[in-house]
Amino acid sequence: MVTVNQQRVPRKRTYLMCAPEHFAVEYAINPWMDLTVGVDVALAVDQWDRLRHTLVDLGHDVHVLTPQAGLPDMVFAANGAFVVDGTVYGAQFKHEQRAAEAAAHREFYQKHGWHFIAPSETNEGEGDFAYLPEAHGGLILAGHGFRTELPAHAEAQEALGRPVVSLRLVDPRFYHLDVALASIDDGNVAYFPGAFSAASQRVLAQLFPDAVLADDEDALAFGLNLVSDGANVVLNSDATRLAGKLKAAGYTPVPVDLAELKKGGGSVKCCIAELRP
Ligand code: ARG
Repeated sequence: MVTVNQQRVPRKRTYLMCAPEHFAVEYAINPWMDLTVGVDVALAVDQWDRLRHTLVDLGHDVHVLTPQAGLPDMVFAANGAFVVDGTVYGAQFKHEQRAAEAAAHREFYQKHGWHFIAPSETNEGEGDFAYLPEAHGGLILAGHGFRTELPAHAEAQEALGRPVVSLRLVDPRFYHLDVALASIDDGNVAYFPGAFSAASQRVLAQLFPDAVLADDEDALAFGLNLVSDGANVVLNSDATRLAGKLKAAGYTPVPVDLAELKKGGGSVKCCIAELRP
């Protein structure tokens, strides 16, 4: 474990978000989505806007993507691509209902001059990929088991030129990597071991001996679906216990209420893609 008074240093980030103007729960593709529960779109937009302002107030740049009618999950911008060192590995969604989101993201990156690599394999962008620039010289962690398929991990490694470590997710409630694991700074992660196969847990323990370990209560509160700039950790306000653990490790928790978007099975990180030039 890290020492309590360790000084954490924030690094300025650039993010991409998409307002939940057309957010709805019209289909159920993860265990959190309940078709019988209504969604308050105005409240969702309000909570999303507060998240956006939180990032801006922390000094980060936030780009926005234009939301499209008929794509109720488009607010979960993390799923649209995965960007490392200026190269964008595009998404190819598992479910037909979200397939068209990939083109909206591709258009954004191409319009802004990013080097875009189109995928041939099923993958849901930063939902299942995380990048740790200072871990082992620059490491990509990749989840599989529910959405992103294993061949996409090899494809991402070829596209991005960084070693990709495959981790198998085993609990359907944690269907994307980013609801079970998060980078908390350039070289370290927080994660819930129970979301991973026993072998993947061993891999994580070997790679990240100083990780902040979360329990099922932290993970079920969507605590791990967080965004950190290396010092400030923006996370779901329900995850009070995880906030305490992060504070003890020297980070500054910044809680935000995203209750409405939780109905879609997502929280902070799902709403935010990181653009890494
Ligand atoms: N309803 C969306 C889905 O099931 C939620 C996506 C959450 N995004 C994420 N990065 N975990 O695909």
